[in-house]
Amino acid sequence: MANSKLDPTVPPGLHLVSAFLAMEPTDCLISMARACGGLVTERVQRFIWDYCISEAVGKGNAPYLKNFIKKLIFEIESSHSTVLEELYEQYGYYMTSLKDDISAKVNTRVCKCISFLFPHGCSGSPSCPVSRKLMVSLYCSLNMLEGDTGCAVWPSSLYLSEFVLSFPHIFSGKTCFEVGCGVGLVGICLSHVKASKVILSDGDLSTLANMKLNLELNQLRADTGKPERSVQDLNMVTYSKQAKAEMDNKSQVNCIHLPWESATKNELQEFMPEIVLGADIIYDPACLPYLVQALALLLNTKKECSDSQTVKYSCQGSFIHCNCINVEANDIDDGEASIACDLDGSKADQIGCQIDIGGVDGLQNGSANNGVKQGPVAYIASVIRNIETFSYFVQLAEQANLAIADITETQRPLELLPYMQSYDRSTQRTLFKNLSEMGGQTQGEVEVIHSWSAPRSLSTSIMYSFAQRDDMEVLDEPLYATFLKVTGAERPYRDEVLSKMESDPNKVVNEVIFGPGEKKYRFCKHIAKQRLPGLPNDLMKKGKHFILIRNPLDILPSFRKVVPPSFLELGLAELVSIYSDLSQMGKPPAVVDAADLQQDPEGTLRGLCKDLEIPFDDAMLRWEAGPKPIDGVWAPWWYKSVHQSTGFNQARKYPQPFPFSLYDLLEKSIPLYNMLRRHVRQMTGLLKSPLPPPDIPIPANEKLLAWVGDEILPRESAKVSVFDSVVQGGDSVWEGLRVYNRKIFKLDEHLDRLFDSAKALAFKNVPTREEVKKAIFITLIRNGMFDNAHIRLSLTRGKKVTSGMSPAFNLYGCTLIVLPEWKPPVYDNSHGITLVTATTRRNSPNNLDSKIHHNNLLNNILAKIEGNNADAGDAIMLDKDGYVSETNATNIFLVKKGRVLTPHADYCLPGITRATVMDLVVKEGFVLEERRISLSEFHTADEVWTTGTMGELTPVVKIDGREIGDGQVGPVTQRLQNAYKGLTEESGVPIPSYQQEEFE
Ligand SMILES: Cc1ncc(COP(=O)(O)O)c(C=O)c1O
Repeated sequence: MANSKLDPTVPPGLHLVSAFLAMEPTDCLISMARACGGLVTERVQRFIWDYCISEAVGKGNAPYLKNFIKKLIFEIESSHSTVLEELYEQYGYYMTSLKDDISAKVNTRVCKCISFLFPHGCSGSPSCPVSRKLMVSLYCSLNMLEGDTGCAVWPSSLYLSEFVLSFPHIFSGKTCFEVGCGVGLVGICLSHVKASKVILSDGDLSTLANMKLNLELNQLRADTGKPERSVQDLNMVTYSKQAKAEMDNKSQVNCIHLPWESATKNELQEFMPEIVLGADIIYDPACLPYLVQALALLLNTKKECSDSQTVKYSCQGSFIHCNCINVEANDIDDGEASIACDLDGSKADQIGCQIDIGGVDGLQNGSANNGVKQGPVAYIASVIRNIETFSYFVQLAEQANLAIADITETQRPLELLPYMQSYDRSTQRTLFKNLSEMGGQTQGEVEVIHSWSAPRSLSTSIMYSFAQRDDMEVLDEPLYATFLKVTGAERPYRDEVLSKMESDPNKVVNEVIFGPGEKKYRFCKHIAKQRLPGLPNDLMKKGKHFILIRNPLDILPSFRKVVPPSFLELGLAELVSIYSDLSQMGKPPAVVDAADLQQDPEGTLRGLCKDLEIPFDDAMLRWEAGPKPIDGVWAPWWYKSVHQSTGFNQARKYPQPFPFSLYDLLEKSIPLYNMLRRHVRQMTGLLKSPLPPPDIPIPANEKLLAWVGDEILPRESAKVSVFDSVVQGGDSVWEGLRVYNRKIFKLDEHLDRLFDSAKALAFKNVPTREEVKKAIFITLIRNGMFDNAHIRLSLTRGKKVTSGMSPAFNLYGCTLIVLPEWKPPVYDNSHGITLVTATTRRNSPNNLDSKIHHNNLLNNILAKIEGNNADAGDAIMLDKDGYVSETNATNIFLVKKGRVLTPHADYCLPGITRATVMDLVVKEGFVLEERRISLSEFHTADEVWTTGTMGELTPVVKIDGREIGDGQVGPVTQRLQNAYKGLTEESGVPIPSYQQEEFE
């Protein structure tokens, strides 16, 4: 900064020059000069001389200049810097020529130049000049508090002017009437935003005369037509051609003398303004009854309408076209209300009128709204200096049936005077007045759309997106002040928020969030943690809600740039409870992921609109860059990057490294994010599966509980570590068990094989049999699975301390998984299945012994693929010598001439069902032979079946295209099926009931 060139067109040079032209207090100028370079260096002095002082010399305001130069020289000399020669010279000149400090005289007028500086991104606004600087010159008195007060530039005029320039649509093309116009600044701004007609009134003739001079100074023609009592003694000036052309392009401005005390109904109603404005008019209790009466008369204008709803009426001698219609209360639709003014006790005229709280673009399309013309409304900027006076005003207004709303928060103007240190915006309030409601009909009821999110989740972008809609007004975090007040949370802008926003929870909810509005919808951006206990229930009950989530991996790095993140600050837990509260109320909210908004803004917004049951609007896809009037006061801290955006930008292809100081917080947050993510309806994110969500074969299994390690978890959360041996190398053993009639069939036999397999693979820290049994029982009980269920029981070698093959890394002990599912037998056991022979050979003890029931199932899976390709139920696997071993999933039997044969368990799994069926074969009186069997023996068998826990006894009716027997389920098979069924019904280990203390 110290070495960069000062430029009068950009800050800080621009601010210094603007402050000088606006005749800001000299101390402010000095502090700004210091801000340009630390000390008031020669470079800064040169800048001040070139762009401020030398330009102003000889153009009046000498006392101000003298005072400024004096302070400047003092400042420079105090810091032992060299004072520019020109400054000494000019000061010397003033010392000799200006004897008195006439600035102290109360009636002295000076010419200030107020520069409205539009921020970046406002270029699209009709009120923003190409240079983004609007300069208004004003003759005004220097001393605000004595004598010539009407001619001072009051802060409320500055605020109301900012308001007019920030919301030009409200005023453009409208007849605007200012009560107590002072220096005329608001009128000049109204003309700038192309109000069709501007009527400026003041009760003081000298103020009015000064105002007229100001209009001329700013190339505005002041008509002094009707009423005749208006200013007569104003000087009319001669206009140049160019000035005339400029004026023709601007609004017609009328100046009228209007002391409130003597204003009559007829006189005031003649003006028929569409908008009434007033800056700092609530100050003198004695005047208030007259002021309120004048306002009521101005707001209660009745217009005669022709059939075509177009009426010409006379006002100030000129004709104005205006669409209007008289309406009955029940004609109103879409948030508009019919109203009556009952000013003098009788139910008076009815007129279409629209409440305009928060309606930034409110009046833009007003005349097209269901044929209801916008009724007159008033905007009053005020500083509440004395609460009693203000309350008196409110009381009078209520008596006059004027509805007042404080719209300071909902329609905050842009800060167009950033250089004006003497101007304290925070004390300003904007009041909005309208005629009160009638017949209990709600004025301008809007449908509220609540957006709930954690911070840094693109919530401001989505607010901007919704703000683009013509039918939408938006509120930026209306609960913020309440949150700060209740929690005491520290923020750099805490005081500002608390002074500018409503913090009473009831008022925020009832009057701000659900207060009347003029658009059909109101979008409320809420941050989840701001939903504190004690807020009125309506907040969740009323309106439509949606939840915007974002991966904490993205939230956390962004959040910490402004505030140190904490679990509470993130508010993800609150977001989850918002989801569940709403679901419990029977209205589960739509959930949108910020990543999806970035990836596919249109698709995601369309989906969201569908969920919210509102039409999608293309306008939601783009917005202007730069600050917006709807921004909360915290915008400078949080909205830097969103101000650069003009839509939902694609996320960067690669993220920044994650700050590991936030790792713990991430760990806590991710599960909550994932929980909500499961409810996202339209997912387009990075890792989204390209496939549509599949159907679960048995829908009842969508919701089940599985045991993993030492806990029971819902299906989607039941996961093993990426370090687990089963992931690293299929290093695990397993069993399939069945539950029949509250009993687990062959439980101990399965556990024997499980422990044998674990021992053969040298697992360490294996849980005990009792522990495994207990885990199985508890899991079944938790699921209420007592019949027709299958358990996939896995015991992995456990989690490793680092990835790798060696069991030496397994220092956590084994991982037990109990996965129960509802599952009837999986094959067609009534009609039989077909088999094909796979080329893949079953493992032999030479490499991996098939007696170990391990999870390294690729050998079998390859065979199963061959079976699938041949459209067969399963595939027969041969041993290394070409004899049949089993199928990829079951053991196998054949019947030839009344003898039952099955292969030796050398190359196959010694199945529990196999052993059970072998017993049954003997019990049923058949001859059983266990030997090597070749494939041709199976091709030519009378009957074939397979055995396994999952499928029980399954008849095989065709192998490799050869029909088995007559292709029907054979008699031996059927007999054994029945015997097996009987066994499963009567035997097994009972699942303990919760009444039992012991599990044995
Ligand atoms: C390859 C293989 N064969 C046979 C079987 C059948 O064994 P069991 O009867 O013990 O369920 C299984 C079941 O796990 C298996 O995977």
